[in-house]
Amino acid sequence: MELGVDYYPEHWDKKDWENHARLMEEAGIKVVRLAEFAWAKMEPSAGSFDFRWLDDAIEILRKRSIKVILGTPTAAPPPWMTAKHPDIMPVYMQDGTRFEAGGRRHYCVTSPEFRDYTRKIVIAMCQHYTDNPSVIGWQTDNEIGGPRCYCDNCAGAFREWLKVRYGSLEKLNEAWGTIFWGQIWSDWNQIPVPREKVTYHSPSIRLDHLRFHSDQVVSYHDIHVKAIRALCPNHFVTHNCMGFYNEVDYVSLCKTLDFVSWDNYPGDYASNTWHGKEIGAHADYMRSVKHMPFTVMEQRSGLPGWLDIMASGDRPGQLRLWTWQTVAHGADRVIYFRWRTSRFGIEQYWHGILDHHGIPGRRYQEVKRVSKEFAALGDRAVGARYTANVGIIHHPEARWALEIQRGSPDFDFQKHMRMWSAGFAHNHAGVEFFDPSDEFTGVKVLVAPTLFLCDAKLAGKLKDFAEKGGTVILTFRSGVKDDANVVVDQRLPGVLSAMAGCEVEEYTAMVRGEKFPLSFSAPLPKKPAQAGVWMDQLKLTGAKAVARYEAGPWKGSPAMTMNKVGAGRVFYTGFQADEPFYQSFSRWLLSDLDILPPFAPSDTIEITERVKGSDRLLFVLNHSGEAQKLAMPARRAYRDALTGQKIPKSLTLKPYDVRVLAAISAV
Ligand code: GLA
Ligand code: ZN
Repeated sequence: MELGVDYYPEHWDKKDWENHARLMEEAGIKVVRLAEFAWAKMEPSAGSFDFRWLDDAIEILRKRSIKVILGTPTAAPPPWMTAKHPDIMPVYMQDGTRFEAGGRRHYCVTSPEFRDYTRKIVIAMCQHYTDNPSVIGWQTDNEIGGPRCYCDNCAGAFREWLKVRYGSLEKLNEAWGTIFWGQIWSDWNQIPVPREKVTYHSPSIRLDHLRFHSDQVVSYHDIHVKAIRALCPNHFVTHNCMGFYNEVDYVSLCKTLDFVSWDNYPGDYASNTWHGKEIGAHADYMRSVKHMPFTVMEQRSGLPGWLDIMASGDRPGQLRLWTWQTVAHGADRVIYFRWRTSRFGIEQYWHGILDHHGIPGRRYQEVKRVSKEFAALGDRAVGARYTANVGIIHHPEARWALEIQRGSPDFDFQKHMRMWSAGFAHNHAGVEFFDPSDEFTGVKVLVAPTLFLCDAKLAGKLKDFAEKGGTVILTFRSGVKDDANVVVDQRLPGVLSAMAGCEVEEYTAMVRGEKFPLSFSAPLPKKPAQAGVWMDQLKLTGAKAVARYEAGPWKGSPAMTMNKVGAGRVFYTGFQADEPFYQSFSRWLLSDLDILPPFAPSDTIEITERVKGSDRLLFVLNHSGEAQKLAMPARRAYRDALTGQKIPKSLTLKPYDVRVLAAISAV
């Protein structure tokens, strides 16, 4: 395991570099990411490259045994380039005007000129650095995805994309249902990139446009990957993704990469709370994109903010806690953003390990402590598998379709999905996310939150999972749409109805704040819960009701069902509920399946497990500012994996403390 920093030597006087490298070495920094936005400095004019400054920086780091990850600099096109080719800059959705130079990410992924310049700079960097012994790998671009561009090049490419998808205009018109409001397209060139309108575009063109945009991003990104693979066969290639960000489908984007990297900025200004579980879910998704350990390419290391400070400051101990939390969820390498806080540019409030003045302080000491702990743990967690018995389906297209038409202004796809994941986290059960294209293996439970779009193939895979003994959980707003984002002509949940053993008689979005109590029946626990946001009235067609509405228009009607399917079962949940429902339902389910982790449920203590061979590491994290006591399971003994000390039956965790424990024996 290694710690690193994102470093911009070009922001500092050359005479500071030596001192930076020394301080890094003393803090135990083993790797730095460089060059990511330095295109204008590496290619000061078209086709003339200058890597001398970067060579010098790498050489200073090499003397301190610090390795290098190079960023391809394409998120920051140089001003000479955009001045020469204005159509590299993207066009806004709202009014069709062009972005200006300045800032970053102001490029159109479709632009042939930009693709060409990209290829050239990546090739030049690869040729220059393929044999440099310090360089270990590459990060492509930076947080790729947006902005969506609405220029004429993109419009042309979108039409070509549609031709491939539909084959003919007749088929496209049929699939999209363009008879509605007489939108029948009679020439490919009539089809727009869907900008904002007086009224709205059809959900069908909008979903295809999101798919198209994601595909364009992936094909642009592949230019980087292809060049690096061809010229630097000994280097890894990765990209810094952003958790549940959805301008690009990460599963497709990361197919060609060696591993996923993640940018992790915990904190919430609005509520001034720290949602350990929410960040845990992002981390779980990042691990799940390739179902393997990941790197944290940017880990918050100080106050974040551009115009304003966006979150409360880290309390002493929290940098260490957040770093270990990523390891607890599957990180093998953690790189802090950023080494030293910039004195200029828009990120003057975005603090790094060192403040603007560069004098080591509290955060530097905290990082130093983590690096000593990483050294004490050695390689034990590297490559270790994350223990997860629960799967959650993350279907990017269903999510896009639901974000186009939420159904209720209070419905939030991500929030609902994370309520399920938080319920399991509350009981310390690990979650793995699955893409519809994955094999659903290694878990006993599969939750499919709001599978708005669902084809027969996916329905078949879910049914299979249940038939073989698994538990499937379906929810409201599932099986509603076909691939073209058109509502099915069956009763809901459409292709999922047979396995659910129930049908939706009527549905409604609830007005803001409206809630109706639910009553549960065996085998579910009878804890009180409330339905809100959305409500389905269910009709049983084979399933048994396990919850009913206690009040409201559908008082007495089934609200949640359970159906036997082969050796397993399928639940259908016709409502969104409050947090306690997800906690108590998952606790019941885990214990019913005999996979309930042997720890008391908790809002503040997080517990995860990573396993390598016979080495079982338990990560225990206290997200609160108060000391916490944790009763250890009676039937297992543990040692502190960092100090070797035996763990007593009641473990006390200091505020924001982390303990890494290793199981000694199972008695
Ligand atoms: C992102 C980027 C970084 C930096 C940070 C802080 O995650 O990848 O370059 O801009 O945000 O703003
Ligand atoms: Zn464009």
